[in-house]
Amino acid sequence: MRPFLPGWSSCLLVALATAGCGKDAGGTDPADATAPHSPEQVAHDPAAMLEDRVEALLSLLTLEEKVAQMHGDSALNSGGLNFMRDNPRLGIPGFRMVDGMRGVGAATGPATSFPVGSARGATFDLELERQVGEAIGAEARARGANVLLAPTINLVRHPRWGRAQESYGEDTFHVGSLAAVFVQGVQQHVIASAKHFAANSIEDSRFMVDVTLDERTLREVYLPHFKRAVSAGVGSIMSAYNLVNGVHCGENVHLLHDILKGEWGFDGFVVSDWLLGTTSTVPSVLAGLDIEMPDANFYGQPLLDALNTGVLPTSAVDQSVRRILRDKVRFGIIDGKPALDPALTIASPAHIALARRVETEAAVLLKNDGTLPLAARPGVRIVVLGALADRANLGDTGSSQTQSSYVVTPLAGLMANARGATITPVATDTPAPEQLAQLDGADAVVVVVGLDARNEGEGAIAAGDRRSLALSPVHEQLVNSALAHNAHTVVVLEGSGPSLVEGFVERASALLLAWYPGLEGGNALADLLFGDKSPSGRLPVSFPRAESQLPTFVNDQPHVSYGLLHGYRYLDAAGSEPRFPFGFGLGYTTFSLAALTLGPPLNGVVEARVDVSNTGARDGEHVVQLYVSYPGSRVERAPRELKAFQRVSLKRGETRSVTLSFAVADLAYWDVVTSAFVVEPLTYTVAVGSSSRDLPLSATLTL
Ligand code: BGC
Repeated sequence: MRPFLPGWSSCLLVALATAGCGKDAGGTDPADATAPHSPEQVAHDPAAMLEDRVEALLSLLTLEEKVAQMHGDSALNSGGLNFMRDNPRLGIPGFRMVDGMRGVGAATGPATSFPVGSARGATFDLELERQVGEAIGAEARARGANVLLAPTINLVRHPRWGRAQESYGEDTFHVGSLAAVFVQGVQQHVIASAKHFAANSIEDSRFMVDVTLDERTLREVYLPHFKRAVSAGVGSIMSAYNLVNGVHCGENVHLLHDILKGEWGFDGFVVSDWLLGTTSTVPSVLAGLDIEMPDANFYGQPLLDALNTGVLPTSAVDQSVRRILRDKVRFGIIDGKPALDPALTIASPAHIALARRVETEAAVLLKNDGTLPLAARPGVRIVVLGALADRANLGDTGSSQTQSSYVVTPLAGLMANARGATITPVATDTPAPEQLAQLDGADAVVVVVGLDARNEGEGAIAAGDRRSLALSPVHEQLVNSALAHNAHTVVVLEGSGPSLVEGFVERASALLLAWYPGLEGGNALADLLFGDKSPSGRLPVSFPRAESQLPTFVNDQPHVSYGLLHGYRYLDAAGSEPRFPFGFGLGYTTFSLAALTLGPPLNGVVEARVDVSNTGARDGEHVVQLYVSYPGSRVERAPRELKAFQRVSLKRGETRSVTLSFAVADLAYWDVVTSAFVVEPLTYTVAVGSSSRDLPLSATLTL
């Protein structure tokens, strides 16, 4: 056994400070704090310093045991969890990984099925998303997992991306903000793994597509949200299947070694994506891919061979194993975190109530001529139309799939909350004439259309990318039939995000984007349609009129090129009118903004203050948004970029001063000459309002 030295000095410091480090089960005199401790003692001493414990554990592992820390073993998988081997000799448990962007993965059994990521992006509610992270983390822990393979934080570069539903949206600042709080919530219980690093926004070609982008685009657009997750303390990052600038992400030195671990100082572990996410042995280890999942194809024996023949130095695997051990210590895995009782945790009343609340904040009211809210009382007759009205529609059947013990469909939710109103179901997409006749004379029709798991999802194992943004002809026809029979037609749109609505939006009375709304979706829909809650979701993705307004989406080619602009930045630069802009959403009350003031930069942070008033007749919630423009910048910039937002709840008639803070550093561009972020001396325009296209207030900030 190697002598162990580094531990004892810091252990002594801890002992002096807490009188805790000297205790040991082996019978050493606790008073003798100067006695050197064995690596075994330090490794398993909860009071010892983190890095000392890591070094102690590392020193005890044989080469074979180190290699065994670095790959999965699917033969051991159990209870729906992906297993890595335990080391019983040294008492080092293996990781147990599970997916969970909208709830703990289906294979583990029932879970609370939350609204999908894009829905949660629409809440713009950081505290709520932290709670969702905590709930999913608790359910993962109750299932015996110690790593949650979430959040998915690739940008929705184009709404046809098959996994757009998993991510929070198109904007790096917004996605990064939600990712950070989700990670913090999850990590109350288990390690979070932010994925897929990086530039992973296509499904059909995900295993082989080479995404070409310049350094500035990479740094400013595709990476900052990952950096936010790292700053929030994320324990793990999952590399992506695709290539970036000719190199697979799992062996991409620039991404993993230089940026993630070097510049950002990430000290957790990098895990590969699953099926074809590891593509080599030595290059991957050297680049910084610490764990191959789900099995050892390139790690395991090939890695041991590379070490034994001297092709790879032991120090290279030591670096990876240190990171793995660090997380096992830091997240309580070595010390045995107490289990949570599944019966008390999974789909607990609190989690179910949370799922309902999330959807009431997530649904985006895009149009309303006053038909909403619907009256819930005897004498009112509402027809609920469409097959999706009566179908559990939770989202993709790929890795983000959940098993829900129940699902409240739109129809079930409306019926359960109708308070005497008559709900007539016509739960088909192809109603017969006599069924359509039931729409005549009804007080309102609620028609549910959109997407399901047959239209979009993960590549290879599920539906993949969307073929187009159009609704199916059957759904177009259904909405138009409804409109022909009843002028008070409310269209409820399900799916990952925007679909083209030009064929009916001008004639529809109301349009509500409900996303994949989770297990309580129907109840939340009733809360909103019957007016118990005012809708308050805001679009986290631009909603186009036509696909031709967006950058081209290529999902079947081995090469794609990503530019600096997409989403609202692209539309704004092109002067192109979306159907509904990024950040947009209506409610049953109205808000006005006034009196914008900007403070001077203080410790690198600028505070904007604005008075927000609820000017309507009922209580409600608003999302105040702050965008920055760069007139006169020496480089190409987006016309405006989101830099702060704040959800605020106001009683009717109430006015409140709201503070929006942003970091001066967030105004920087990536300078390709100096290879650094540069904040230009410039007079910046700071605009505040209610969407990316509704910015009534502005002020300037000179730096
Ligand atoms: C997906 C990951 C997922 C993994 C494990 C992969 O195919 O891309 O997001 O975490 O499978 O299920």
